[in-house]
Amino acid sequence: MALLAPSILSSDFSNLYQQIRMVEMSGADRVHCDVMDGHFVPNLTFGPILVEAADRSTELPLDVHLMIENPDNFLEDFYKAGSDFITVHQETCPHLHRTIHRIKELGAKAGVALNPSTPLSTLEDIITDIDQLLIMSVNPGFGGQSFIKNSLKKIENAVKLREETNSSFLIEVDGGINKDTVSDVLNAGCDVFVAGSSIFKADNIAAAVVELKKILNNK
Ligand code: DX5
Ligand code: ZN
Repeated sequence: MALLAPSILSSDFSNLYQQIRMVEMSGADRVHCDVMDGHFVPNLTFGPILVEAADRSTELPLDVHLMIENPDNFLEDFYKAGSDFITVHQETCPHLHRTIHRIKELGAKAGVALNPSTPLSTLEDIITDIDQLLIMSVNPGFGGQSFIKNSLKKIENAVKLREETNSSFLIEVDGGINKDTVSDVLNAGCDVFVAGSSIFKADNIAAAVVELKKILNNK
């Protein structure tokens, strides 16, 4: 089943509780939290305090995407804040095997994200250890960018790798997902769809969730 994960990066933070409730009531499956440090990516967002507030706003699983250097220093804080999935970037983790296993030991599901320029082959040696593979379909740092079409090939290759290695990780895509791009991504074999601006910048947030879910469920 294809899952929808609205990213609160594009939400109205003065009204965060209501906005999270709205996507939950409209059928979203997760709440995606984009954590940025101004080093790994050229933007700053929020840390565990806000993730904890998001956790108190919803029953949905929190899908926490760490776009930060040295994520190991903060894994416990994000876990305690209520993260169900913690995704780190391959590009920030020289000891990725250790990091993945630390996330699992804490009790969260472990995800690894790849920038558009980072090949899937960099994960071959740990692919059976991960719970989720996050394929970035924009360069991370900002909401509202255009979907990079090459990501479709990467998703298809990830599906093949999952079969070849007999693994069961979820494939998630993040960046530029809207009603015009979502079908191609679904057809490529993606499981989890992050969408920020196409949901939270829509005139009607609830209707945007319903529309995307309808496309995802119609396969
Ligand atoms: C980008 C973030 C995304 C972002 C997606 O760095 O990781 O989660 O919020 O935003 P849209 O859906 O607007 O491309
Ligand atoms: Zn994200």
